[in-house]
Amino acid sequence: MNDLDEQARAILRKNDRGGYTVPTARLYPYQWNWDSAFVALGFATFDRQRAWQELDMLLEGQWPNGMVPHILFRRDDPDYFPGPSVWQANRGPIPSGGISQPPVLSSIVQALVDTGGEADARRAEAMFDKLCLWHRWWHTERKPKGCPVVATVHPWETGRDNCPDWNIGMDAMAVHADLEPYTRMDTQHANPAQRPSKDQYDKFVTIIKFGRDCGWDQSILTNEGPFLMADPGIHFILLRADRDLQKLAARFGRGTSEIESWIDAGTTGSDYFWNAQANAFCARDVHSGKFSDGFTNASALCFYADAGSEDQRAATVAHIERIGAAAKYMLPSWDPEAPMFEAQRYWCGPIWTQMNYIAAKGLAEAGHADLASRLRSDLRAMIEQSGFYECFDPMTGAGCIGTDFSWTAAMWLTWASPTALSAGEA
Ligand code: DGY
Repeated sequence: MNDLDEQARAILRKNDRGGYTVPTARLYPYQWNWDSAFVALGFATFDRQRAWQELDMLLEGQWPNGMVPHILFRRDDPDYFPGPSVWQANRGPIPSGGISQPPVLSSIVQALVDTGGEADARRAEAMFDKLCLWHRWWHTERKPKGCPVVATVHPWETGRDNCPDWNIGMDAMAVHADLEPYTRMDTQHANPAQRPSKDQYDKFVTIIKFGRDCGWDQSILTNEGPFLMADPGIHFILLRADRDLQKLAARFGRGTSEIESWIDAGTTGSDYFWNAQANAFCARDVHSGKFSDGFTNASALCFYADAGSEDQRAATVAHIERIGAAAKYMLPSWDPEAPMFEAQRYWCGPIWTQMNYIAAKGLAEAGHADLASRLRSDLRAMIEQSGFYECFDPMTGAGCIGTDFSWTAAMWLTWASPTALSAGEA
């Protein structure tokens, strides 16, 4: 029996709140969207029924317009700010955030179908329409007028909350003059030096205020909101998810033409992210057209999406190899050789386990088995050294921010553990 496997299962059980899982107690005490999707893979290694329940409970929060919110507030918890009374986003069946998160869900469903049997296929078929509705929401409600790709209205929607990628959009917006005073809770549960700054939080809350003031009308939020950037992370994850949704559609005998049109638009739209100066896929401000210039773990997802030209993919591999020489562990969330790199601050450098997993999956599929296996063995080494942290310092492997973290436990069981069934993948 592998002791770390047992610890990982114990973390998932401990963070279970009755059919859904919190990322970690206190710091993140609700159900988060993409966390739950990855967590389902971890549960699937020992309890498939519980894995599907996690996904069903996430979809229970879907809004009538198709959006699956980034947080579901099933009960009020004083440990978290901003909670349901701040968001006041009551357009769905469960109080929630008014934005979404990277749509990895269809790819997780496809993975469960791939590795499962008839019962798994039936569970997937039962949620197929909901998945379609969510993808359609991205391709319509988050497609700004005149922009060739889907964009995002809040750094939290990208899941890469305060990555320097968002500085262009954040610098271009002002903090609302009448922002209600608030008390942050995150800095009481985690080291403030590893969390976003006060100015960033003021802007995060300003965007929430805008959404609240327009009654969470998603078209107004997208087209008139204070922040609008396009994220290669969301773009590549959505393109991959569209491809996986198409596979599910074909399996269930459902029409695929609408999904094909999304895939075509996503494939050609990838060029929108190509920053010729940085020679990389980078985030971009939709209003000004300005690029971020750092290579991130989201830049590396072109392989996962099966996107990009030969030259773009070769340049991406060169960046990954360069960063692999500069950092002890792979794959940092921000380029260690770029300004603004901070090895332990949220999304400014640390390694995230679920990003390693999907980046490596794409690299392995594209024939870069050596890089994929480095991402996996580095993740294994960091967990063995430090435990099940939210993220890890790429220079030392030290654990950062949240402890006993659900998706880290899930990625261990799914992929990084020596006993992981999908170990052969990367
Ligand atoms: C937080 O509160 O830091 C979350 O990442 C927002 O989704």
